[in-house]
Amino acid sequence: MFDEDFGLDTMLAHFGEERERHMGAVVPPIFQNSLFTFESYEAIDRAFENPQENYIYTRGLNPTVEIAEKKIACLEGGEKAKLFASGMAAISSSILSFIRSGDHVISVKSIYGPTNNFLSKYLYEKFDISTTFVDGDDLKEIENAVKENTRLIYLESPSSCTFKLQDLEGIAAIAKLKGIKTVIDNTWATPVYQNPLKFGIDVVVHSVSKYLCGHSDVVAGVAVSSKENMRAISALEYSLLGGKIAPFEAWLVLRGLRTLSLRMERHSRSAMKLAEYLEKHPKVSKVNYPGLESFPQHELAKKQMSDFSGLFSFELTTDVDGVKRFLNHLKYFKIGVSWGGYESLVYAPIISLSKELPAEKWQAAGIHPGIVRISIGLENAEDLIRDLGMALSMI
Ligand SMILES: Cc1ncc(COP(=O)(O)O)c(C=O)c1O
Repeated sequence: MFDEDFGLDTMLAHFGEERERHMGAVVPPIFQNSLFTFESYEAIDRAFENPQENYIYTRGLNPTVEIAEKKIACLEGGEKAKLFASGMAAISSSILSFIRSGDHVISVKSIYGPTNNFLSKYLYEKFDISTTFVDGDDLKEIENAVKENTRLIYLESPSSCTFKLQDLEGIAAIAKLKGIKTVIDNTWATPVYQNPLKFGIDVVVHSVSKYLCGHSDVVAGVAVSSKENMRAISALEYSLLGGKIAPFEAWLVLRGLRTLSLRMERHSRSAMKLAEYLEKHPKVSKVNYPGLESFPQHELAKKQMSDFSGLFSFELTTDVDGVKRFLNHLKYFKIGVSWGGYESLVYAPIISLSKELPAEKWQAAGIHPGIVRISIGLENAEDLIRDLGMALSMI
């Protein structure tokens, strides 16, 4: 847990490093080994008494990976973290950890597309696990969706397309009362701006590929929770499904973490400037950024988060052809999926949504065909504003 005399940046620089174990190396070595050898039968026998805490095989525990896990657990205020090969590996493993065949899940309509597919198709078709998708902004709606066999509430707040929020404290209280577990995707806010465990949520997951790594050179995921929950995930889903992170990737994550709060400050400041600019632009009908006072859930956003990250969407007063012209005239905003890196990115969610989901589903999730999503990188905000202005003049 976070020490009161320990600032966030100090923690990111030093916590969990144990440099004396690595000959004082200021940056920890990459333990690029698949297994660990032992001096005797007795020594390996002792290690197997607690396989989750001892270095035996890199699919279980690796020293480089462990340093990054300790830092992320501390950052989220959790007892333990496990790093996975992708955000989806962390998400699917955390969900599977709490449910079994025939159970029921409650989730929100605005969650990340592949997570929606995992719940609504994969788990339903293969394991008879059904999910009720709610809007998520009304506690009564969530309470009413609870069934006798509801075992899990899966959240994403804010979501990464419409940026809708859920009341974390309120939902955690309902879930606790009914013995239901809660998992949240906290990728957008990052642990620098939101710590869902302190509101009573059971497990936090992240796509580490976004801000936690921050350099667009790694795909990774993480789950953070209590020792008890993480022991179960580690022994079963982590170890049996095998979606673990590689040591080199974990080392890159560590490098990214050292500048996380500095980067978030810049992402956040620039995003606010760009959101305010777009909000006043005549060719933009709506800006979906929780940091704006005009955002419908701005008060809840301020209550749950200490600041706001650099990804948001807006709606152009045009059709899909106008969206195409806009994207094709941008210079610094590169066209691409993902977000949270050093570089600014632009994407039109309609491209993938129209292929993944039937129109009723994405319409129900509040997705407008003229919607554009931008990830604000670390470039100068003035250059980014000029870039947007130029492309907007072309639609
Ligand atoms: C909100 C959110 N959660 C989870 C994921 C999945 O993470 P990964 O791509 O690392 O598997 C993504 C990826 O874009 C995402 O945007």
